[in-house]
Amino acid sequence: MIRLRSHRSIFLLILCFLSFAPWPGSGFVYPGEQSPAIKVLVAYHSLSGHTERMAEAVLEGAKSHPGTNVLLKRVGHVTADDLFTADALIVGSPVYWSNMSGEVKTFFDNWQFKFGVFPEFKMKNKVGAAFATGGQVSSGKEVTMLTILAAMLGNQMIVVSAGGAFGASATTEGDSPGIDKKELADARALGRRVAEVAALVKANACPIVHPSVPRSDSPRCLGRINRSGPRKICSGTE
Ligand SMILES: Cc1cc2nc3c(=O)[nH]c(=O)nc-3n(C[C@H](O)[C@H](O)[C@H](O)COP(=O)(O)O)c2cc1C
Repeated sequence: MIRLRSHRSIFLLILCFLSFAPWPGSGFVYPGEQSPAIKVLVAYHSLSGHTERMAEAVLEGAKSHPGTNVLLKRVGHVTADDLFTADALIVGSPVYWSNMSGEVKTFFDNWQFKFGVFPEFKMKNKVGAAFATGGQVSSGKEVTMLTILAAMLGNQMIVVSAGGAFGASATTEGDSPGIDKKELADARALGRRVAEVAALVKANACPIVHPSVPRSDSPRCLGRINRSGPRKICSGTE
């Protein structure tokens, strides 16, 4: 009889634990819990290697954020699958005549007919950022980054910066040949920030919050917590 009772209490204990435990793979997000895994795609164009060096540093920065998978590709090699499976995209270009290079512009132009990003806005709510290298100090790096960000904004992406006001950049000729430590640090800061924001966006996009978590303890949740049981809460679907 005593044995039967202890079995019953063990059973009840397990039941109790199960009712409060997150289901494996359910996307449960508790406050303070580690961010979900994210994928950051770094796409660039580079002829003489400067923008490529910056791209590698951006990648390093993204990788330094826990749970981040990274992919480095030249813009011409990016596939539709690369784009759609990424949570964030960071695009780098050399300055050509005070703007992004033709290769980078073609990459964005391909979003319409080659990749079919538009008209469904398939890149919507992915995080985007830009970096650039230019030969001279004041000859188009900011315009280059802003036009990259403009293409992303036109596709309803969430654009962020770090390093500089509009992204990371480097001057590569004249009095400042090559890429110095500060410029590489800016590139790493950009990659890291993009990964951080992408993780936040993903965690908040559609979390499943357990009813036992009070709303006040769940600042990362975008929606209302359902008291009747765990369920998905998506922004705009309440
Ligand atoms: C066709 C062409 C146009 C360029 N126009 C500019 C320019 O307007 N402003 C500038 O600062 N640098 C300009 N540059 C210099 C490159 O932006 C600079 O060397 C850059 O770092 C090259 O990047 P990469 O090594 O990744 O190819 C130009 C270079 C080329 C080839």
